[in-house]
Amino acid sequence: MFGEMELRERCVVVTGGAHGIGRALAERFAAEGAHVVVADVNAQRAERIAARIEGLPVVCDVGDPEQISGLVEQAVGAYGPVDVFCSNAGIGDRGPGLASTREQIDEITRVNLLSHLWAAQEVVPSMVERGGGYLVQTISSASLITGPSGMGYTVTKHGALGFAEWMALNYAHLGITVTCLCPNAVNTGMMGRNEDDESASDERDDPVRATIGDIVEPELCADMTLEAMREGRVLVLPHPRVGEAFLRKAGDYDRWLEGTNRRLRRLRGSSDGPSHGGDRPVPGQRSASPLRYSAVSSSSRASSSGPSGCPTASTESASCSGRLAPTMGAVTAGLASTQATAKVARDIPASRATLRRPSTVANSRSCQ
Ligand SMILES: NC(=O)c1ccc[n+]([C@@H]2O[C@H](COP(=O)([O-])OP(=O)(O)OC[C@H]3O[C@@H](n4cnc5c(N)ncnc54)[C@H](O)[C@@H]3O)[C@@H](O)[C@H]2O)c1
Repeated sequence: MFGEMELRERCVVVTGGAHGIGRALAERFAAEGAHVVVADVNAQRAERIAARIEGLPVVCDVGDPEQISGLVEQAVGAYGPVDVFCSNAGIGDRGPGLASTREQIDEITRVNLLSHLWAAQEVVPSMVERGGGYLVQTISSASLITGPSGMGYTVTKHGALGFAEWMALNYAHLGITVTCLCPNAVNTGMMGRNEDDESASDERDDPVRATIGDIVEPELCADMTLEAMREGRVLVLPHPRVGEAFLRKAGDYDRWLEGTNRRLRRLRGSSDGPSHGGDRPVPGQRSASPLRYSAVSSSSRASSSGPSGCPTASTESASCSGRLAPTMGAVTAGLASTQATAKVARDIPASRATLRRPSTVANSRSCQ
């Protein structure tokens, strides 16, 4: 809908805009001349990023519809009607799989899924009235390919993609362009990065992390998102392997489920499956296995978007521990088992692998 220069002076809102993918999106839109609202639960970081791009910082917990309402009101007050709304903020599982408490399930559902609906309710009517607008949804490869991610993360990311599809189907002819960013591992707080301390030793030099091979930078995600918006493409896959795995899943669903079940069991070692209650951890205590739940309190989430907010980077390790190493451990363990499935992916006839591939990402091998 927008041409090359049309983002200039547009009003763009980015939730979770103070760190990681959201920060990169905010900077990218600002570089295009847009007025950017940096919305985040982390006030200090939101202020710093907004100051850097001459945008507007707004403290907002997207898990609360009233706060999304207030966010849109502030954005409109500062820059006029919202042209682009990026529902980017997301969190990892707070609970141990099926044994999660109702509160834990409620929290992740509000933040990762319902926030997308609430944002659309706020901005779409005015976009339609004005002839169009953009919804950018940061989702995850976990929405296309279920893997070792936690229960809440998997369910909410699938739901978010379902909502995005529904919006695209019902609003495309009314001028609404939906773009879904579905990356695998990205170098952000969810992978242990702390952008407040970039002088610290580069975690990409970590030998464990180095074996993962295709942790992409948030800037690549932002660039590819804008490219897709311009081309009116819905799906953005910074890791080509995700598209291939999605095709494989669609080609033979039962076989894919069987194979993935085997792979997840290998990944978990002797464990019989995800936590279902018997090993419910004490809140605040890290679980022994990186593939199991580690409680993260809301207060630690609010104060940092760093590792404590990890979703389990969507390689999709189910770890939500407070440190990089266990997360990486799970990712690396997952890698071993994805090597086998990667071979199957290579065998997909080229004619079936019609999902677009970015030429910029090489050596992608860690998706599920
Ligand atoms: N990093 C990955 O490997 C990866 C992979 C696939 C998908 N994603 C998705 O990308 C999105 C962004 O995550 P990221 O990787 O940039 O992580 P990040 O931790 O670097 O940034 C997340 C930002 O969201 C903010 N936030 C958290 N909860 C919020 C809430 N309730 N309201 C408002 N802001 C909130 C945090 O303060 C932080 O600034 C998430 O939706 C995540 O699920 C990440």
